Amino acid sequence: MTVISSLAILKADAQSGSNTRNINFQPGAIWPDNNGVHINAHGGGICYQNGIYYWFGEHKIEGEKGNSAQVGIHCYSSKDLLNWKDEGIALKVSDDPKSDIARGSIIERPKVVYNKKTKKYVLWFHLELLGKGYASALAGIAVSSKVTGPYQYLKSFRANAGSMPFYPAGIPSEEKVNCVDTLNKENKFFCRDLSAGQMVRDMTIFVDDDGKAYHVFSSEENNTLQIAELDDDYTGYTGKFVRVYIGHQTEAPALFKRNGKYYMIGSGCTGWAPNAARWFTADNIWGPWTFHGNPCQGPDARLTFKGQSTYVLPVAGKKSAFIFMADKWEPKNAIDGRYIWLPITFNGDDIQINWTDQWNLRIFDQ
Ligand code: GAL
Repeated sequence: MTVISSLAILKADAQSGSNTRNINFQPGAIWPDNNGVHINAHGGGICYQNGIYYWFGEHKIEGEKGNSAQVGIHCYSSKDLLNWKDEGIALKVSDDPKSDIARGSIIERPKVVYNKKTKKYVLWFHLELLGKGYASALAGIAVSSKVTGPYQYLKSFRANAGSMPFYPAGIPSEEKVNCVDTLNKENKFFCRDLSAGQMVRDMTIFVDDDGKAYHVFSSEENNTLQIAELDDDYTGYTGKFVRVYIGHQTEAPALFKRNGKYYMIGSGCTGWAPNAARWFTADNIWGPWTFHGNPCQGPDARLTFKGQSTYVLPVAGKKSAFIFMADKWEPKNAIDGRYIWLPITFNGDDIQINWTDQWNLRIFDQ
């Protein structure tokens, strides 16, 4: 009932041309943009540039068909994180069925980063070629000299073909992957894909304080995460990468850094159905990464409040202010997917995510 009535109100507002302001985050609710239309940017991430936040996400249409890319990557802009202006489609799908990004392909979890050297915005995404289900497992890249686009599709690939993982000093040799023993369950897929390149599915991009960027993705048939260093242009790999939480099926990775410590939040691997979130920390991006269990607390904590992580957003100008961004998927009617944004609470170096029906940025001033 609430849904129907809030939709009706939005429609009335849109028709009368009135400009409703959002004053609180309301996790899981309809989130109207500047036109009164529910924001359409799923599996998204944020690029912050010159005082403006840009939210990029999967544009979904109605029905199950909406789970594939029928339109492209949608961009919104905001100064206050609550009120978002529709900036249109930043990367459009192609009408050519032979294109890598053909209409009906799968384009998920887009993340945009600005490259200071090339002065280009680089959009990374998880790409599955048309008609192949989730078998392609590719990373896709598009670039633009303007943050809102249009982005030009560049290329797609698997990760780090022919390269073995990097190991920080002191890792015993028995813990290193050995592709002579390809029957080893945990290393089987890594070794299978060694020459063709590692699979890329759920993913994010993390840019460190020193400007180095990393691609973090579910790989090896979703069994293991990989963290791979990007080259100076952010359009390829350097060949240096690590495998994280081997064999434990982590998806939906989101990275952030606080007080010199790296944090990662992810999910388990149950498709569109929600599961428990998991968090990790490391003092060095290359690990070791320590698993800490579920950061969510309270009712539905074991289901990440019915959502799945997509990004952690550092709030500009506020200390220790990080927003956990998750998607509440609606696979039968993809366009109705909702957003669950919640503040991350710190207790020393530990984190907690608690449900709250509504909140705003003043919570970070307490
Ligand atoms: C989820 C994943 C989504 C999408 C979905 C398809 O686990 O996080 O991005 O790929 O599976 O079933």
